[in-house]
Amino acid sequence: MINVSVVILAAGFGTRMKSNTAKVLHRAGGLTLVEHVARTALAVAPPERVVAVVGHQSEAVASALRPYGVKTALQAVPQGTGQALLCAKDSAPAEGLLVVLYGDVPFLARETVERLIAQQAAGDAAATVLTAVLDDPAAYGRIVRGPEGDVLGIVEFKAASLEQRAIREINSGIYCFRAGLLWQHIGEITTNNPAGEYYLTDMVEILRSHGHRVEGQVMADPRELLGINTRVELAAIDSLFRERKANQLMLDGATLERPETIVADVDVRIGPDSIIESGVRLLGSTVIGANCRIGAGSVLTNCRIGDGVAIAPYTVIDDSSVGDNAKLGPFSRLRMNSVVEANAHIGNFVELKKTTMHSGAKANHLAYLGDSSIGEKTNIGAGTITCNYDGAAKHPTQIGSGVFVGSNSTLVAPVTLEDGSYVAAASIVTETVPAGALAIGRGRQVNKPGWVAKRKKDSAS
Ligand code: UD1
Ligand code: CA
Repeated sequence: MINVSVVILAAGFGTRMKSNTAKVLHRAGGLTLVEHVARTALAVAPPERVVAVVGHQSEAVASALRPYGVKTALQAVPQGTGQALLCAKDSAPAEGLLVVLYGDVPFLARETVERLIAQQAAGDAAATVLTAVLDDPAAYGRIVRGPEGDVLGIVEFKAASLEQRAIREINSGIYCFRAGLLWQHIGEITTNNPAGEYYLTDMVEILRSHGHRVEGQVMADPRELLGINTRVELAAIDSLFRERKANQLMLDGATLERPETIVADVDVRIGPDSIIESGVRLLGSTVIGANCRIGAGSVLTNCRIGDGVAIAPYTVIDDSSVGDNAKLGPFSRLRMNSVVEANAHIGNFVELKKTTMHSGAKANHLAYLGDSSIGEKTNIGAGTITCNYDGAAKHPTQIGSGVFVGSNSTLVAPVTLEDGSYVAAASIVTETVPAGALAIGRGRQVNKPGWVAKRKKDSAS
């Protein structure tokens, strides 16, 4: 096995994004562009052999990469792709194979990189260039091949003759080099070109001038090399990621209704026979079990959903978990580490914040339950509100199992309702309700006979 290392060039400005955020930190498919590239790199090399060259907003880009454990090298002033790669020299391995990736080319599949490495590893060339054949080769660098098929050179569009511009095979900018030869000769790149930059593409002719061969590998799906320069291209790449993800989820056994309307981030997983209705957004690290139904328009961010869960439309869940066979929605809201255990029911316009509904508990309509624990099989009536905030601090509400809370009750925290207790409808509860007790916390009703007729008479006179 030959050691593989990867250098990611990510120091460019990205002026055409018209953004205060560095280009490679914009998101597509749920990740920043540079994270996609880092993940591809880590599919072929361990983190200590991956170096990202950062420059523009170097601190922010480096911190987006920190969780991946890759190294970074600084290119203080961008002077071209050749000089950017040179900046990685001291951090990257001196031997083995070295792959160059671009931070703004996020859709490249790991299989494509693996195929490039395999061709380079199998032959005697000094480098292999990943190329594509395009109907419209636009302003990409052109690949000039010799009679044997070897790559003789890469001509940048600006410097290309009319005949060269007619070549439809283009440079993806992705290469696999023999690291030893690359580092030995990279210093020979000059700025002798119309842009006055250090062009990495010059390495082809430099290696050939020392008697080495350079090969090309044509990629199967040229969409993978789409680079991002504008937000229009960002949206196009995002759509590609969504499509690739939706297809993968369907092949793994989920049913997606009108998949083109479903947004699933790259790390989302769904068990078999779950049905995702149209317009659902599944974000972050959300994992859904088997045999679930997720209703139209629901948005789930960083959620764990068990098996057999039914979520009716327009339910919004953040950073929370739902147990097997629970029923939620329509229009439920869960957030901040709420837990809905197995067989519990959360109905329309019920909000849970940092609250656990133990198994079989129900809150079917119009409630706010915050900083609470709701015991097994407890029933929370319509309109129940936990008053968890006193203007300065949050307080807990403890509700035992088998409790019945009558509709429109106000539970002023901190407060405890012990097992099997009852709360009369429309009560204001400020003190512990002992086990098995009924709490009635409201004014008594007074009926005034004949009052209506009397008022009518008074107002007429
Ligand atoms: C480059 C290639 C071109 C190829 C095209 C494919 C060269 C000279 N040309 O052109 O043949 O068809 O990519 O997309 O290499 N970067 C740095 N520091 C720099 C310059 C660039 O980190 O000083 C990074 C950029 O952030 C970007 C990548 O390198 O991620 C490519 O740079 P860019 O200027 O976009 O190269 P192109 O002109 O597109
Ligand atoms: Ca580019």
